[in-house]
Amino acid sequence: MPLPTAMPMPSDPLCAVTHPDPAPYYRILAAQRPFYRDEALGLWVASGAAEVQAVLAHPACRVRPPAQAVPPALAGSPAGTLFGGLIRMNDGDWHAPLKGVLRKRMACLALAGMGARVLALAQDLPFDAVRPGAAVNHWMFTLPVLAVADALGLPMTGKPSVAGQVVAFARAMSPLATAQEIAAGSEAATWLQAWMRASLSSAPPLDALVHEALAAGVAREIIAANAIGLLIQACEATAGLVGNMLLCLGRDTSHGRERPALDCVAARVLREDPPVQNTRRFLAADVRLCGAQLQAGDTVLVVLAAASLGQREAATPAPWTFGRGHHACPGDALASTVAQAVVAALLARGADPASLAHAFRYRPSVNARIPYFL
Ligand code: HEM
Repeated sequence: MPLPTAMPMPSDPLCAVTHPDPAPYYRILAAQRPFYRDEALGLWVASGAAEVQAVLAHPACRVRPPAQAVPPALAGSPAGTLFGGLIRMNDGDWHAPLKGVLRKRMACLALAGMGARVLALAQDLPFDAVRPGAAVNHWMFTLPVLAVADALGLPMTGKPSVAGQVVAFARAMSPLATAQEIAAGSEAATWLQAWMRASLSSAPPLDALVHEALAAGVAREIIAANAIGLLIQACEATAGLVGNMLLCLGRDTSHGRERPALDCVAARVLREDPPVQNTRRFLAADVRLCGAQLQAGDTVLVVLAAASLGQREAATPAPWTFGRGHHACPGDALASTVAQAVVAALLARGADPASLAHAFRYRPSVNARIPYFL
């Protein structure tokens, strides 16, 4: 995805996330420094595909610092309780049965007909052609959440407020969240837990997930938290995928008037301009890893985007942006299908990728690449 002008490389892998064109930097990083210690950031950095794979597969590399199950800013609040119950945020055995049920149920979701369902859900969303950027920003955060809830069987027509609550909670989880965003996230957690408790057994396929998880001995509250978790996981990452697909379409002049197929655009963006650029792992023990000696308490920045860009295309089995191993994203197929449907719905309502690509910036983030259209 070439940009019009050459610009200075990002100074580190955190700045790269929202840099205008980080791909050359990531390629060099993966080739020349596949695993190293960044003293200024206080992080180990894994950027080569083999090193990223090794970190994500290592049992001592945990998704949370061992002594801090919940970020201090959320601890003791409803947002902290919700956060602490998510399989995404936990290692160990207690959530293994739920993880198994959830992966199986996600794999069974019917993806055919998503385009029509998303168009129907989009009927309730206004699209102000005078301020298309604002409309697109709103759609890309709202529609994927509604689409995933709808795919789970939750009745969504006329309920765009659910997406607003999910967005509020997702923002509070960011390390860059302000005190105001954290307070809003806690209110949203309370709202979402009450809503999900009431909706949990409402419709297939969610009720199948609930029955199987209860039979596997999982507490109802944890099932509810993780059903909300599916919407939270879907929110920002899929928004980023939609936004980066629009930018890809807007910059692509090679097809003349004919637009490239959206499945090809999604695949290209997931590989070259992915919405989730990195994740972190926290060492629970002293270990030797990728030729270096790491200590309990150390943090590894796992640069998924560099692993992806550093590899030759033929060697890429699945997009790195969905992670690998024990915590790999179970929503990959759903996310790609939903994002394509959302982009198609936006194009049908008159969104123009070329003009969107002329006026945007990236939302501040240390791991997600999400455009904000002006
Ligand atoms: C329909 C939308 C989505 C759903 C329902 C979903 C769901 C989930 C869930 C439940 C997990 C936790 C899995 C576990 O810990 O066992 C997860 C992890 C993950 N997801 Fe997704 N996700 C969605 C979209 C996306 C998108 C669009 C991306 C990026 C392109 C993404 C990237 C990831 C990554 C990187 C992880 C692993 C994080 C880590 O290992 O640290 N997800 N997802």
